[in-house]
Amino acid sequence: MPAVASSDGPVAVTGASGYIGSHVVLSLLKHGYDVRACITDPNNPDKTEHLLTLNRAGYSGNVELHTANLLDNRSYDRPFAECSAVLHVGTAMGYGGANNPRQVYDGAVNGTGNVLASVRKAGTVKRFIYTSSFAAIGHPAPPGYVYTENDWASDNRDNDPNWSLDNLEEKGETGYAMAKVETEHMVNRVAEEDGQFESISVCPIVVLGPLLSKVHELIGSWQWFLGRMLSGKPCERGWQALWNIVDVRDVAESQVLMIESDVCRNGDRYQLSATDESGEIDCMQLQAHLLQLFPHIDVGGAPDELAPVLEKYGKVYDAPRAHCDKARTDLGLQTHTIEDTLRETGQTMMDLGLVTAKLK
Ligand SMILES: NC(=O)c1ccc[n+]([C@@H]2O[C@H](COP(=O)([O-])OP(=O)(O)OC[C@H]3O[C@@H](n4cnc5c(N)ncnc54)[C@H](OP(=O)(O)O)[C@@H]3O)[C@@H](O)[C@H]2O)c1
Repeated sequence: MPAVASSDGPVAVTGASGYIGSHVVLSLLKHGYDVRACITDPNNPDKTEHLLTLNRAGYSGNVELHTANLLDNRSYDRPFAECSAVLHVGTAMGYGGANNPRQVYDGAVNGTGNVLASVRKAGTVKRFIYTSSFAAIGHPAPPGYVYTENDWASDNRDNDPNWSLDNLEEKGETGYAMAKVETEHMVNRVAEEDGQFESISVCPIVVLGPLLSKVHELIGSWQWFLGRMLSGKPCERGWQALWNIVDVRDVAESQVLMIESDVCRNGDRYQLSATDESGEIDCMQLQAHLLQLFPHIDVGGAPDELAPVLEKYGKVYDAPRAHCDKARTDLGLQTHTIEDTLRETGQTMMDLGLVTAKLK
């Protein structure tokens, strides 16, 4: 018998209007669940219409919108009442300078604390899925190192003064990584103490794949940089190393498999990264894929800054290497090909009017 089934009652998703959250809602519907989609702003159609449209797509389950905010204590009491599972995807992000690292850290840790309080109040939740990040896995390591779920971002930090809560506001992405590590430990600890529900974390890396709404463009996100390459600009993010790509549909589907799985236990974590080396690509390979998928577009490629690096080393920095073997083995996750992921990312961005392609 699955840990959770659609007949057990509704399930709730936080951050449901977001890029990953919207796909989690869609995957749950495909598995027959009634979904309480928790959003912050019911008055912005760009954040709600793509979810409500799913109610007209013929799925047996239904989407119901609930307004809640991570920073408001008890905000999720009502949406979580009678739910059999909670999929906690939402968090304050730093995209486009929306929040500084301290706000990202506090929002994640305190926000998840509020969510957990509502889970405990409901008393009906059996599985809690926390969307962490590869940022909670990746730590200083030699090139070529292959990360697994046993790795923590806090490893090998003994001599790293940056890994500290002091002056967090000035520390770039460290606040995000520290928040994800701290929150993963917290959700496992609270679930263990509570004893009524199990907590499982997912750690996605470079997430790409179809956008369901204009708001999924997210300035500074991986998809945003891919869109800029389609408009002829060079690759401006991650060009020093590899893009280790996972499909947003696989990140979402894995979470539904986790609420139902008999194999998962409290404290388990799943790295959602490339299936194999086909999804670990440098910016030249990324450009080559895009040129093949969109032959009429003059896709941007390596930035000028990469030339001296290639001259010296002959290749980009060989990291991060990580594969989603555990999710595929434990959960039976079937992943999308890199070509499908890149095509769907680019095509949906153009269809939504987010990218004006530079034609040849
Ligand atoms: N995309 C990636 O490459 C990637 C990789 C690793 C991990 N992740 C993780 O995946 C999760 C989703 O990220 P995403 O890429 O889908 O970004 P996103 O589209 O910006 O989603 C973030 C969601 O969090 C919600 N949120 C923000 N502040 C909130 C608050 N105070 N109260 C309630 N909800 C709030 C947002 O809702 P509003 O828009 O209504 O504010 C939004 O729906 C995050 O936990 C992120 O850390 C993403």
